[in-house]
Amino acid sequence: MLKKIDHLGIAVRSIDKARAFYEKTLGMSCEGIEVVESQKVKTALFTIGETHIELLEPTSKDSPIAKFLERNGEGIHHIAYGTDDISRQLDIAREAGCELINESPIEGAGGKMVAFLHPKSTHGVLTEFCT
Ligand code: CO
Repeated sequence: MLKKIDHLGIAVRSIDKARAFYEKTLGMSCEGIEVVESQKVKTALFTIGETHIELLEPTSKDSPIAKFLERNGEGIHHIAYGTDDISRQLDIAREAGCELINESPIEGAGGKMVAFLHPKSTHGVLTEFCT
């Protein structure tokens, strides 16, 4: 079962430049910046209530985030649902005919396990399950 919207992932060209909006204009504080080597991405995490905003900056030109920025520019990249059982959610999605990007959970930012569904089978929204 899904429990909440855990975070929204937002693609930015530069966390250094984008963070001022979240910190000064919106008044949120950055809880941590981390490079996730496996995804070729640098993340900055902000908290709002039970939900987070995850800024995503590419760390190389072949990063999936670099490709997203080329195609779409900066903006919302994915929505992440929190769940106790990612594998179960993947099974449900697979049975419903969704295309899975990850057949099983992989390690994401903060050491949390994550898995993604392809946007072409989710009405255009890159969908993440996370613990
Ligand atoms: Co995410």
